Amino acid sequence: MKDNAFRIAVMPGDGIGIEVTEAALAVLDVVERRHGLAFRRETVPGGAIHYRETGVALPEEGFKAAEAADAVLFGAMGWPDVRYPDGTEIAPQLDLRVRMELYAGVRPIRAIPGVPLALASPRASEIDLVILRESTEGMFALRKDGVVEGDRLARDTMVITRDVTERLSRFAFRLAARRAERRGQRGKVTIVDKANVFRSFAFMRKIFYEIAREFPDVDAAHHYIDAMALDLVRRPWDFDVLPTENLFGDILSDLGAGLVGGMGFAPSADVGDAHALFQPSHGSAPDIAGRGIANPTAMILSLAMMLDWLGERHGMESCATAAQEIEDAVDAAFGAGDVRSHDIGGRSSTGDIAKAVIARLGEAA
Ligand code: NAI
Ligand code: MG
Repeated sequence: MKDNAFRIAVMPGDGIGIEVTEAALAVLDVVERRHGLAFRRETVPGGAIHYRETGVALPEEGFKAAEAADAVLFGAMGWPDVRYPDGTEIAPQLDLRVRMELYAGVRPIRAIPGVPLALASPRASEIDLVILRESTEGMFALRKDGVVEGDRLARDTMVITRDVTERLSRFAFRLAARRAERRGQRGKVTIVDKANVFRSFAFMRKIFYEIAREFPDVDAAHHYIDAMALDLVRRPWDFDVLPTENLFGDILSDLGAGLVGGMGFAPSADVGDAHALFQPSHGSAPDIAGRGIANPTAMILSLAMMLDWLGERHGMESCATAAQEIEDAVDAAFGAGDVRSHDIGGRSSTGDIAKAVIARLGEAA
């Protein structure tokens, strides 16, 4: 199906972003062969090193390529000592989110068999939730336009809009309904906020419950952010889909990743109504880059999320099947001890892990 091939904009970026992207693309090669699918890949240069060499982190053509593609596969961008004159780091992924209106940051937190869990409770192996980070407004709305008055006071502004909150809420309920079907249990969406103190969050919660009425088959609940930090450690297995504000989601998703083996196991998707970008939750990891020891699991699971999204969007069952097969292959490879990544004390290289997943997919590399 050359002509109706999916167009994928590939942005490997910096450091281990490049290494884990290579691993994920090897898995994608196998998916193509197994399912007779075609993915035309356009590699888009960008990142901190690109900025150092050219003065631009992500050229305009890069944004255009992302907008023209069916999906974007993104490694990681950034390098701690490469900075703009104002001292901040380059982060074109934040601009992509705003520009392509990728309001729904989907961060699944799921216990993978064989991967050590932070919690001792036997119930920790049941952890299977999704943090849904609103990714275009909240505390990041005026990101570059925060003010410092004299050397006396600094002010950032929180923005919550009705439009984005409605879309995020609908996304959350639809996601929960879909998960409920797969898991054979009733879905539950819990908004995480601070509505007891801030008007912006009271507004967000009010809109959330308005939208909840459209989804009688999914339960709706609310939880304060501070209590959620506690309960994600105390009883994470009780939660399903957790929509929240941008900064809260940023923090909670790292906490969540910590519960299930760390950043190397935490995939993510930035989804809008027209576009979507898939990337691991981690960064470029300068401390281990170039050594071939990065754990590509988060990236491979992000690839699976891409296939699932493409499958649902284009009504292509084979894509959704491929996504599930990749997840199952990851579970099997770690669960049976075929591999153990460096970040959990093992010795498997990036390539070893890709090969093990591919072998479990039923085809040698
Ligand atoms: P990081 O996620 O790159 O690394 C944090 C720690 O986790 C490091 O010790 C690293 O070795 C480890 N780690 C991360 N991913 C791993 C993997 N797949 N396998 C094994 N170990 C892994 O976060 P850090 O150090 O704060 O940021 C490094 C650079 O990446 C910075 O320039 C930052 O701005 C950028 N960054 C980019 C992101 C993106 O492109 N979406 C997200 C986060 C950071
Ligand atoms: Mg973060």
